[in-house]
Amino acid sequence: MNHGVEFRNITKRYGTDPSGPLAVKGVSFEVKKGTLTTILGPSGCGKTTVLRMIAGLESPTSGQIIMDGKNVTTLGPADRNVSMMFQSYALFPHMNVVENVMYGLKMSGVAKDEARARASDALKNVGLVGYNERLPSELSGGQQQRVALARALILEPAVLLFDEPLSNLDARLRREMREEIRTLQQRLGLTVAYVTHDQSEALAVSDLIIVMNDGLIAQSGSPQDMYERPESEFVAGFMGEAMLFPGTANTDGSVRLGPLEITPKQRVNAGAVKVAVRPEAWQINRDGAGVSGKLVKSSYLGSFFEYTFETVLGSIFVVSPDLTNVLPLGAQIGLALADHGVSVVRVA
Ligand SMILES: Nc1ncnc2c1ncn2[C@@H]1O[C@H](COP(=O)(O)OP(=O)(O)OP(=O)(O)O)[C@@H](O)[C@H]1O
Ligand SMILES: [Mg+2]
Repeated sequence: MNHGVEFRNITKRYGTDPSGPLAVKGVSFEVKKGTLTTILGPSGCGKTTVLRMIAGLESPTSGQIIMDGKNVTTLGPADRNVSMMFQSYALFPHMNVVENVMYGLKMSGVAKDEARARASDALKNVGLVGYNERLPSELSGGQQQRVALARALILEPAVLLFDEPLSNLDARLRREMREEIRTLQQRLGLTVAYVTHDQSEALAVSDLIIVMNDGLIAQSGSPQDMYERPESEFVAGFMGEAMLFPGTANTDGSVRLGPLEITPKQRVNAGAVKVAVRPEAWQINRDGAGVSGKLVKSSYLGSFFEYTFETVLGSIFVVSPDLTNVLPLGAQIGLALADHGVSVVRVA
């Protein structure tokens, strides 16, 4: 039932003009059976186009799509055993919750009573009990999204596709729903391709993250790989609020960043490099050791402070979890680096 998806050098050009631009410029990747792969990237980079090609709603201009070892490149959506949950989850407004969920089963010829029973089960699976008779208009946005999720799950597709499924929810519901999707995916062993442009969502739910930029894959890897070892300026900037500083790599492999010397995790050639530093990687030294800085901005965010320091390296944004020793504006301190959250990236 369950199977993986493989893209082999897929390109996609919309329209009939052969000199038109490519929306997808040659991507190869695999969504392994029973895993959740996230496609992450800025608006317009080709995420939805990739999902629609998995679903069979668009056909590639060149390349091959393999599912379960079979070439499905030219097959339509009905022949692929894939279901997609769109960003605008579009429930049928005149049908109640359970009717919305059982609709797909009824269309595929399942008897009404059985369809109804399976729909109730699917609704339980997404934690929505006691709402079966309500109309979509009588539900909150998060409840509607659960109905849409149950509707996608009930067909037990071999591959389940999500296009920004949580984008209309508030922060707390978004966190709850993403945990639910992940739990369900793991419990049922579903194969899922999940599109988002929210990097924390991607880090939280994925087995594999594929970062796309302008129709190409910029990098792919586990959440930890992507966060700790970004290979380019683009990925470092996209996977967190890393700031980039110009540095110099020495012949012994160490890297000089102003008065600081760091030992990168990967080998770097001598010469000019860029060092990506996440705001939580900076350590504040009250004795002034490190890059000297003066506090010019401070915001309290409940569980941490956001500080901005003026330094010789320019202005540096720092996240500090220390809620007891709060720095006053104008404080003179030194900034040193932790060994996590710092990476040397190629100079673009
Ligand atoms: N039906 C279409 N006809 C022509 N061009 C299209 C069509 N759909 C998308 N495009 C173009 O293809 C490129 C990729 O679009 P796509 O919808 O895949 O981006 P996306 O990564 O999903 O963006 P977003 O995060 O904004 O949803 C864009 O330049 C877009 O304008
Ligand atoms: Mg899109």
